[in-house]
Amino acid sequence: MITKGIILAGGTGTRLYPMTMAVSKQLLPVYDKPMIYYPLSIMMLAGIKDIFIITTPEDHMHFRNLLKDGSQWGISINYAIQDKPTGIPAAYTIAEGFLAGEGSAMMLGDNILYGANIAEPLIKACHNEKGATIFTYQTNEPERFGVINFDKDNKPSSIEEKPKNPKSNHAITGLYFFDERASKIARDLKPSARGETEITDMIKFYLEEGTMQHSPLGRGHFWLDAGTHASMLEASQFIAMIERHQRYKVGCIEEVAWRKGWISDQELHDMATGPLAKSGYGQYLESLITEKAG
Ligand code: DAU
Repeated sequence: MITKGIILAGGTGTRLYPMTMAVSKQLLPVYDKPMIYYPLSIMMLAGIKDIFIITTPEDHMHFRNLLKDGSQWGISINYAIQDKPTGIPAAYTIAEGFLAGEGSAMMLGDNILYGANIAEPLIKACHNEKGATIFTYQTNEPERFGVINFDKDNKPSSIEEKPKNPKSNHAITGLYFFDERASKIARDLKPSARGETEITDMIKFYLEEGTMQHSPLGRGHFWLDAGTHASMLEASQFIAMIERHQRYKVGCIEEVAWRKGWISDQELHDMATGPLAKSGYGQYLESLITEKAG
């Protein structure tokens, strides 16, 4: 059973300049909460309570100030610094001590995932201890992402990172479940033509071995990589629209912790009436307790 999770929240953020010249993009808002709340809540929905966050040296303390050690939400958060963005797989070598020979989930800190019963495929992936599970999503812009191709029997056949001429529109989302071999595989990777190691090369290892599970996200799901100005705005608009029209928030860490039974009604109430009280966020948390009381 996978019980450990990594959130990769480093990088240069150059695609979002000048917004990210002084602050990491994963601390920027997506509507009413910092971007990193969304991947963190996904980890929690998967049932993962032991979390390792990798940041830039500059913003390390900001992440700590925001999320602390996680105990306020009944989870554990540890931090590490990535000095230079040498590639997504580096997360597995940086996290090697934390993983201590176990499998893990990893989510990129700028990925937003939402949908009906989203916890179900995540929990299923946690049960898959051997090999890898990746999640894919059909997109109109496959050239922006890692892409998975299929053979005539519809079986995954090959993987390409940002292909100029994509053969399929199935993007590989930034949510990966790998077994305990991930750190070793990452260490043996060679940098690609753009000078970074590629997560798609790690996935290829499992594909070629025949141990890669592929979990397609369908109609009822929404996935977005908030790594450009347009997609960040879209993410905010999407979350704003949902939260204004449905009763419940998306990516609300406090609510997930409470529904999982990791914090009590009293602890949620204390958060709701503390520093969060004035923003409307606290009123939302308080309304959950009122709703439960009937
Ligand atoms: O969002 C999904 C896509 O993410 C996948 O489809 C691609 O296969 C995968 O390579 C990745 O593509 P990106 O173009 O989004 O990768 P990027 O270099 O922007 O890095 C993704 C996030 O990871 C970004 O928020 C910054 C962080 N990062 C990246 C690197 C290379 C780090 O923290 N450290 C790094 O060394």
